[in-house]
Amino acid sequence: MNIDTNSLLDCAVSAVKEAGSHALRNHSRRKDILKVFEHDVKLKLDVECQAIAKHIIQSTFPEHAILGEEDTHELTKIPEERDNYQWIIDPIDGTVNFSNGLTNWCCSIGVRFNNKVVAGAVYIPVSDELFTATNDLPAMRNGSEIHVSNIRNLSESIVLTGLDKNNGTDAPPFEIFRKISLNTRKTRIMGSAAADLCQVACGRAEGYYESGIYIWDVAAAGLIVEKAGGKSEFITREADNRLSFLATNGEIHDSLRRLVPLVMQ
Ligand code: IPD
Ligand code: CA
Repeated sequence: MNIDTNSLLDCAVSAVKEAGSHALRNHSRRKDILKVFEHDVKLKLDVECQAIAKHIIQSTFPEHAILGEEDTHELTKIPEERDNYQWIIDPIDGTVNFSNGLTNWCCSIGVRFNNKVVAGAVYIPVSDELFTATNDLPAMRNGSEIHVSNIRNLSESIVLTGLDKNNGTDAPPFEIFRKISLNTRKTRIMGSAAADLCQVACGRAEGYYESGIYIWDVAAAGLIVEKAGGKSEFITREADNRLSFLATNGEIHDSLRRLVPLVMQ
């Protein structure tokens, strides 16, 4: 059964707002860490915020599958064909920023129908900015339509990125970072892929690229960039939902794409 995308978006909006507001209200607990990794942490609030989002989604759409960053082990058990609809949650994108008291973090939820994202919502609690889009509605920021910038030259562009440090500092992402930096006005690492993509969607930056990112980081915001007039592209895609991903204002897409490798690093 096809569901009206507005109902999907309404539910995604409630879920990102409730989950994001929970994290903001509980900011004093941002150091409650469940697990420490070499370059990352998992917080109690990551898990709590995902549970809040899941509860809202399951109360409205109990039959739909959910793929959340915090419990991917459960989700791999769901056969692809069981559900046409799949909700993709990143409860706190920018967990390290949040945990350290930096302000750039968000909650992101995308809805896929037959493997295509049809609705997405990203909520940035600190600035109270809600970014949304559906496949048949324009991209919006707090209810007003947004557009990507019209900058055409890479040399005048700001490109946002992240660095996958897992293979050491000689790894190709560092070389790609160097190339992008030398060819753009500014390159920034701001620490929250979904929030970064929303900056591209509303024209505050021209592009975003990252290798070694995951589907929950980009599902909602990739659609938001496209519906704001930009372009997004999975450059490579692996079975465990890992991707290398490029999104731009459209104008600089080909120039930026020429700087990034076509294989997963
Ligand atoms: C991370 C952020 C970061 C990006 C990493 C992601 P998380 O997500 O989006 O900007 O560089 O690749 O894993 O772990 O904070 O949800
Ligand atoms: Ca994330």
